[in-house]
Amino acid sequence: MTEVSMPTNIALIKYMGKKDALKNIPDNSSFSYTLDHLTTSVTLTPIDGDRDQWDSTEDKIRFIKHLDFLRQKFDKTVFYTITSKNNFPSGCGLASSASSFAALTECFDKANALQLSVDEKAALSRQGSGSSCRSFYKPFAVWSDDEVAAIELPYKKLLHHVIVVSSDKKDISSSKAHSLVKSSLLYADRKIRAEKRLTELLDSFRKQDWQKSFDIVWQEFQDMLALFETAETPFSYLKLSSYFVLDTLREYWKSHHDGPLVTMDAGPNVHLLFREDQENMAKLLTEAFRERFTVL
Ligand code: DP6
Repeated sequence: MTEVSMPTNIALIKYMGKKDALKNIPDNSSFSYTLDHLTTSVTLTPIDGDRDQWDSTEDKIRFIKHLDFLRQKFDKTVFYTITSKNNFPSGCGLASSASSFAALTECFDKANALQLSVDEKAALSRQGSGSSCRSFYKPFAVWSDDEVAAIELPYKKLLHHVIVVSSDKKDISSSKAHSLVKSSLLYADRKIRAEKRLTELLDSFRKQDWQKSFDIVWQEFQDMLALFETAETPFSYLKLSSYFVLDTLREYWKSHHDGPLVTMDAGPNVHLLFREDQENMAKLLTEAFRERFTVL
């Protein structure tokens, strides 16, 4: 049996929209922070037979398809029993495809002693699920087209929390969202906005201008939400409580002139990133949210 675990990541500039849906080549660059404390561990155990063993819910079919892709790519004939486990509560509405596809790719490499480079593994993993390619790099990763790399910034470590507003399974997968947003009139200039924000965000990180970083990260996820809301058939992942959490955070920034970076994914939950020197603030703020929500 071979076992590996890989972290998930949270995008501050979002991957939304694909240039090539088969290979998961994004329309715009994205930028993420790798969440070392939220991991998926995958095991592969070789079995006799001609198919991998697992129950076939939709996500698992995608997972097995990725394993098939890897097997064909490297001319392998071994089939496996697969297990995959998150170290964060399942059903908490957190995207785990980044960590699970990264872990599956890493595990396949290890099980077959392929000794692929990090760049090769990230490129293969990307074809399973785009955002997973960023999980191979830390603390920060930038992904453009078929290239992804780590980037050094003055913040070596950020403190991450997520306010879990709902753990319901989402109706629209992020893969589906990537294609639906293309029908929005706002999509035409989406790439221009995302690339501009990426440049400005990296600049504000380098200057350690936290307020500016917060503004850009906020505008960026609101841009993504606007794409959802202005698609030909509009859709949204937000719950009433998501608005409450966002409003509370906005007020917090207004009164303290400081606070966490705030972002959302294709889901109702709100992600917070604090600087290391904001540890106390993180404690107080998350304690306040814990009265109503699960906070991880
Ligand atoms: C909103 O990587 O899940 O989280 O490539 O189809 O598997 P596929 O999509 P996925 O998309 C993630 C979208 C996002 C933003 C981001 O992580 O950049």
